[in-house]
Amino acid sequence: MTEEIFVSPAESARQYGFTEKVRGIIKEKYGDPKVFVITYGCQQNEADSERLLGIALECGYSRAEKAEDADLIIINTCAIREHAEKKALSGAGSFKKLKEARGDRVLAVCGCMPQQEYRADQIDKSYPYVDLVFGTDRGHLLAEMLYEVLISGKRRRFVSDLPHDRLGVIAEDVPVCRESSYKAWVSVMYGCNNFCTYCIVPSVRGRERSRDPERIIDEVKSLVSGGCRDITLLGQNVNSYSGGIGFPELLDKLARIDGDFRLRFMTSHPKDASDRLTDVMAAHPKKIARHFHLPAQSGSDRILKAMNRRYTREKYMGIVKKIREKLPDAAITTDIICGFPGETDADFEDTVSLIREVGFDMIYTFVYSPRPGTAAAEMPDQIPHEIKVSRFSRLADIQNGISAGINERCVGKTFRVLSDGDGTGRSSQNKIISYDKVLPAGVFADVKITEAQAYALKGTIILKGQEKA
Ligand code: 5AD
Ligand code: SF4
Repeated sequence: MTEEIFVSPAESARQYGFTEKVRGIIKEKYGDPKVFVITYGCQQNEADSERLLGIALECGYSRAEKAEDADLIIINTCAIREHAEKKALSGAGSFKKLKEARGDRVLAVCGCMPQQEYRADQIDKSYPYVDLVFGTDRGHLLAEMLYEVLISGKRRRFVSDLPHDRLGVIAEDVPVCRESSYKAWVSVMYGCNNFCTYCIVPSVRGRERSRDPERIIDEVKSLVSGGCRDITLLGQNVNSYSGGIGFPELLDKLARIDGDFRLRFMTSHPKDASDRLTDVMAAHPKKIARHFHLPAQSGSDRILKAMNRRYTREKYMGIVKKIREKLPDAAITTDIICGFPGETDADFEDTVSLIREVGFDMIYTFVYSPRPGTAAAEMPDQIPHEIKVSRFSRLADIQNGISAGINERCVGKTFRVLSDGDGTGRSSQNKIISYDKVLPAGVFADVKITEAQAYALKGTIILKGQEKA
């Protein structure tokens, strides 16, 4: 089983061999080959794109400023909601002109959308100018896939038809080109075994699989020694990390690495959030960000059950209570789905009351989108679009008031902010704070809040010594 999950060092070496081969071909073909990667979807997709770009650079491409200038264009797609797929398909549609302008460039569509067979078929049929299609478990093979397209001059499709519980690998030693020098994503695990009834992720991202803790520790150490200040540990459900140690133990080890940096993580499934996790966070107030993203999805037990979330509202509130006790300065954010099949007005009112009861710093609200192949898409009582949208707007209005209240209470307080270089930065709570000076990106500064709006905080930088004045 283990052999099947981890890509072998021999296979990694073979892939490096293909980067050499591609390098030779594209130098001859294009002179100065360039690549452009377009990413839709979540942080995991952004992390995947950084690897795709890393491999492309290893193959000898350099980065293009825009798609029109590129000889290789990759669209990394998302499938979580219909809207995300529409955006990706319209991106693929825009390839037509690019191909007409220059027939020798290679156009690729990859990621979650074509991992669904019917979408890969659709691209084959309706997007004839797409040269390369590959799924979520093939990114590390980009050099080999490119080689095949380049030498054959034919369209190629590499989408695994393995069932969910055998889909997905762990590929270490893949080159990465990170977008930021001071912020980084580090995947700790991939895939998901939860099967929430609305969710396509388990089908497209495959079985849960955890990286070796030593590899994660080495990666974080090397990021920190390279000047990285903000590291987000990624996993569909980090709490089910199982690399021989659990997630709290991993987080604890990472927080013990020397250096001036912050760790974040997402996402935590409430059914698995443990006391041990909040204890570890409490033990490392500087190194572990005071932010918990804890998707509730609904405040109604009936709907939570239909969603197969495997926790109740009471259990959720119990976790919130623990966070408030042990980490009083932590922000709590959540995801909510409006209009899940069968959601009555009374169920929705339960969500409204949950939002009021918790007082989230921020909620990410989504209109339920039926995903073909998921259990919820087949449920009776699909909610009309207008109702979903009106529930969505109502939540947004309520949350605006709650966020404004929380932000007002920040006035007069001081936050340690990591500068984004444009006169704004992020606090440990992940709030965006703007201030009166422009600091270089990646620098920490203390900022005293002087003004609050619903989603914005303003402050002044406290210079050393000034705080005592
Ligand atoms: N429709 C709407 N929202 C969804 N999410 C996941 N699947 C769907 C769907 N089919 C939301 C969940 C999840 C977030 C990343 O996206 O709230 O936490
Ligand atoms: Fe990320 Fe899920 Fe979208 Fe894939 S389908 S990009 S895993 S949010």
